[in-house]
Amino acid sequence: MKNLLIAPSILSADFAKLGEEVQAIDKGGCDWIHFDVMDGSFVPPITIGDNVCKAIRSHTDKPLDVHLMVNHPDTQVEAFVNAGADIITVHQEACIHLERTLQYIRSFGKKAGVSLNPATPVSTVQNVLHCVDMILLMSVNPGYGGQSYIHAVTEKIVEARRMLDEAGSSAHLQVDGGVNNATIAEVVGAGADCVVAGSAVYNTPDYAQAIRELRKLAG
Ligand code: DX5
Ligand code: ZN
Repeated sequence: MKNLLIAPSILSADFAKLGEEVQAIDKGGCDWIHFDVMDGSFVPPITIGDNVCKAIRSHTDKPLDVHLMVNHPDTQVEAFVNAGADIITVHQEACIHLERTLQYIRSFGKKAGVSLNPATPVSTVQNVLHCVDMILLMSVNPGYGGQSYIHAVTEKIVEARRMLDEAGSSAHLQVDGGVNNATIAEVVGAGADCVVAGSAVYNTPDYAQAIRELRKLAG
């Protein structure tokens, strides 16, 4: 197993002081910065776009992990490349030509991720593994921070881990939604090597302590 990567989601940060909030998780020992983009169509809320991504880029040297919860994600890719994104993840459910979209992200020299909602089978990405740098399994229905982990997703983590190992793929397996002190051992035990944690980090007084605690409890 690779070393566990922890990617706090800035969705739960204080947007009025986002630069400081990014610096705080950077200093607190996170591995990546998870950036949730919502368009009010693929998911109900509207959050933040490439201009905000560009604004926080100068506040950290750590990888910016952009999670596009948007329809027509191809229209956003170049803007996020220019805004300094390192990893760009699209939803399988939003891509008619998924292979093309993943190759398009890679054509900019960026890492390409594909995300699956809880109801979407792992097998839907089996045939694009040759151009996938990360599978992101949603363990809540996307749209909001602070939701409860859907335990039925744990068997999808096991299945995705097996699929990546059998394919000889070194792609990351990321899990997003409801990951906290109570659920992280289940998520990592099932085979995830990267976890997103929004409220479990940002809704605490000491981000460094929260990240340390998550690492410890991951086992
Ligand atoms: C949900 C987002 C998540 C969210 C995670 O739609 O993709 O990244 O912020 O928040 P928590 O960790 O609070 O479930
Ligand atoms: Zn996310």
